[in-house]
Amino acid sequence: YTVEYHDSIGSTNDRARELAADGDRDVVVVADEQTGSRGRLDRSWVAPSGGIWASAVLQPSLPAAHVPLVTLAAGVAVVDACRSVGVEATLKWPNDVLVGDDTADSQRGGLKLAGILTEMEGEADRVSWLLVGIGLNANIDGDALPAGATSLREQVGDVDRRAVLQTTLESLSTLLDASETVLDRWREYSSTLGREVRVDTGREQITGRAVDVRFPGALVIDTDSGEEVVHAGDCEHLR
Ligand code: BTN
Repeated sequence: YTVEYHDSIGSTNDRARELAADGDRDVVVVADEQTGSRGRLDRSWVAPSGGIWASAVLQPSLPAAHVPLVTLAAGVAVVDACRSVGVEATLKWPNDVLVGDDTADSQRGGLKLAGILTEMEGEADRVSWLLVGIGLNANIDGDALPAGATSLREQVGDVDRRAVLQTTLESLSTLLDASETVLDRWREYSSTLGREVRVDTGREQITGRAVDVRFPGALVIDTDSGEEVVHAGDCEHLR
């Protein structure tokens, strides 16, 4: 892949989207700082200088329905990279990268280290472009981050951002070449499975015990009224 680097940019996802629409593939947009970055569910994302802010435009060789699997794979890849620098990160469904004591009352679900925003365009059976945006709080002071967030600097000190990004992208590419391994790798890193969770789907709240992930990336929840399969939403770890 080729890298397009910016000292400062609005959002690497927005730039990647332009490149993708122009037909570029296998390009990664990287920035030191973002001034208008976006998170999931229309949230903003704080992206000061020192982070790993990157958006990869991938070759979309899969149907749109399988895109959630790419998002899970990206989460696994980021955890691989965090673990390569000694940070025992875990995944909260669908793809929040967390560290820390998951069971302490004040920080249910741990501190957020990274997030992923996958975007695509296309029809059901033909994805015209697909990009994976990765935001990993790397060499950033804790007080420059929102409450409930942490950084690699806070956990282990400064890292070589280029190396961490490279590990992430290599792992993502390995996972996408062996997509049948993604769910098992995700299960291994999950801090959600086995927990009491509440998932807000936008239409309803589903509470119960998270028991599994199912292709292409759904969460299976045991509730009082039986098994629910949730495809998208905001997940909170309850205990
Ligand atoms: C989330 O957890 O809500 C997802 C956060 C994704 C942030 C990254 S930073 C690089 C890329 N550019 C953006 O504007 N967003 C993603």
